[in-house]
Amino acid sequence: MIIGYYDKTGDQQSRARWQQLLQTAFARPNLARLNLAGPDFVALDSAAGRHADIALVWGPPAGLLASCKRLRLIISLGQGVDHIMRDPDLPDTVPVCRLVDPDMAHALSQWVIAVLLDHLRDGPAYREQAAGRVFQQRPQIQTLDLPVAVYGLGAIGRVIAERLAAIGFQVLGWAASQKSLPDIACHSGPAGWQHCLQTARAHICILPLTKKTENLFNAKAFAQMPKASYFINGGRGRQLVEEDLLAAIQSGQLAGAALDVFRTEPLPEEHAFWLEPRITIWPHVAARTNPETASRQVIAAIEAVLDGQLPANLLDRTRGY
Ligand code: GLV
Repeated sequence: MIIGYYDKTGDQQSRARWQQLLQTAFARPNLARLNLAGPDFVALDSAAGRHADIALVWGPPAGLLASCKRLRLIISLGQGVDHIMRDPDLPDTVPVCRLVDPDMAHALSQWVIAVLLDHLRDGPAYREQAAGRVFQQRPQIQTLDLPVAVYGLGAIGRVIAERLAAIGFQVLGWAASQKSLPDIACHSGPAGWQHCLQTARAHICILPLTKKTENLFNAKAFAQMPKASYFINGGRGRQLVEEDLLAAIQSGQLAGAALDVFRTEPLPEEHAFWLEPRITIWPHVAARTNPETASRQVIAAIEAVLDGQLPANLLDRTRGY
């Protein structure tokens, strides 16, 4: 079996870890029934990669997957699959599977809590004061029962919503289809969307990127939010109209934003976001894929395919994620 690996970020440490984990796993005696002495682990974009059975990828260039004619499974190295879906030549008969790793839900929820509390408890202002050795108290924003909205209630969004409720926020949740979660006021559809926008003081986007979620956070959405709301994007850059966010912050309609994802990554040096102190920029690190935990699912998916079964967490191509 040949596993072809491609990560557009070029992170060599992760690559080495993936290689080690997969080779160890498939060398274990309990996998002997699959007749595998151990997989070849190769660069998908090399000559050997053309013969790959399994592709493990993040941001593959258009056409690369189609050029590998023996592929039986494509696995995303992240929770999102938009980086695979945007390939116009994506083979439509090969199953695509996304990661659903509780460790990433854990990490992303901690990031959301960190940036939200930093904003609400005046972290930026106190850091600035400290730089000038100013010891001065500011009024404390009351956060008990503060309404916050989580957009996207999948495997990650629901953990975020539950954890925010557990630390005293009043949590609204919005998803394309109606969900029901304890302690969360769940909404769906256009009316639910309006309600969340108009009620919450902080808006947290965790949605998958699809045609329906592209550009959702735009001038019209920001105008409906209560004045001085905060926006957090842990979803995808293309869900945000970046110039509309900047205008909403500069007019005072929004108090600021914490962003982990951008329309163009790396964020270009000349991008206006760098110059806006009320925008906190994170370089797509809110929940980095942890090979230790994610590999369990990747191994299970490969085994399923080799056994002639369908793996879990398959991309639904009509839904878009
Ligand atoms: C990260 O953004 C992911 O999709 O896992």
